[in-house]
Amino acid sequence: MSEEKPVILTCAQPTGVLTIGNYLGAIKNWATMLDDYNCYFGVVDLHAITVKYTPAELRKNTLSCVAQYIACGLDPERSNLFIQSHVVGHTELAWLLSCITPIGDLQRMTQFKEKAAKLGFKVAEGEGSNELKFAHQGARAGASLNSGLLMYPVLMAADILLYNADAVPVGNDQRQHLELCRDLAQRFNSTYSETFKIPEPFIPKSGARIMSLQDPERKMSKSDDNQNSTLYILDKPDVLRKKLMSAVTDSGGEIKAAEDKPGVSNLLQIHSAISGSSTAELEASFVGKGYGDLKKEVADVVIAALEPVQARYAELIQDKKYLESVLKAGAGEAQKRAYKVLGKVYRKAGLVERPR
Ligand code: TYM
Repeated sequence: MSEEKPVILTCAQPTGVLTIGNYLGAIKNWATMLDDYNCYFGVVDLHAITVKYTPAELRKNTLSCVAQYIACGLDPERSNLFIQSHVVGHTELAWLLSCITPIGDLQRMTQFKEKAAKLGFKVAEGEGSNELKFAHQGARAGASLNSGLLMYPVLMAADILLYNADAVPVGNDQRQHLELCRDLAQRFNSTYSETFKIPEPFIPKSGARIMSLQDPERKMSKSDDNQNSTLYILDKPDVLRKKLMSAVTDSGGEIKAAEDKPGVSNLLQIHSAISGSSTAELEASFVGKGYGDLKKEVADVVIAALEPVQARYAELIQDKKYLESVLKAGAGEAQKRAYKVLGKVYRKAGLVERPR
């Protein structure tokens, strides 16, 4: 693989089966970049342990995520697929970066606040800037707010900067994390001299924010308590159809993307991200038709798009040897680049070079 090509790095958490949001907002887009970029695609198992999890499930989900990546079109011959914990340097760089990250910046992260709120913790607003300011009252019995959850975006910044990536293709929900990564790269450069490139976010035009089918004001998420909210890429066709036919729509019968029609807008977005038709073209094709017709057509489009992905996944997940060989090659390439960058970072930060 040519080192002259610009580098992209991006990752997903192995917290369960990928959703159609992960697919349309992220992975489908990554698969179009294989020839023009030197691609590093990580499965970030160390991020997944910031929330409650079962070790055996994590191991299974991590390998399954690799198979899902390949099934979705991430060709390992043209990219480097790796598991985060297989590459030395992610947590090391995260430590260095944590030493230049104000705690207040981490407490302001939307995803952190959302995850804290889920555990019953609430950020107390409006006090001093860099202090811990969590109201512990009201937290669920036995719940604690682990510091890994707070540090999550620093580890994510390390994932990106460890490869000195030029760009990071992600869905819209990662925009704020990427901003922090850019700030940290700049801060490191100005503190210790030019070291990191400032990575650019690549956010797709359509599909960047697929919403929940049951509450279209919220992002579709792997961990939604209501399973009908989320389309998983490995859901059987009849399950996909059932979830889509019961998707929440809006008042009024017109099929049109509009702010006051989040349900219909979301279905049109899913259709558009798969079929490539613009929203205007879709609106025109549905004139005189009802919500039932829209849902049926979106179900047809989603099922057809996922059929080859599911067939390929079924083969891959049986072939553990092949998956392991992909991961070995991917980690090898990733580690080469990571060591190079980490060595430079350590030197710049004044650490004594390791004896050879
Ligand atoms: P994760 O695992 O939640 O999601 C993986 C990718 O899918 C995108 N995505 C969506 N896009 C559109 N609509 C949705 N409903 C939707 N849900 C998820 C995400 O934007 C992401 O691109 N913090 C990251 C993982 C991460 C990472 C990184 C990403 C760790 N280190 C370094 C990039 C670079 C996350 O939780 O993604």
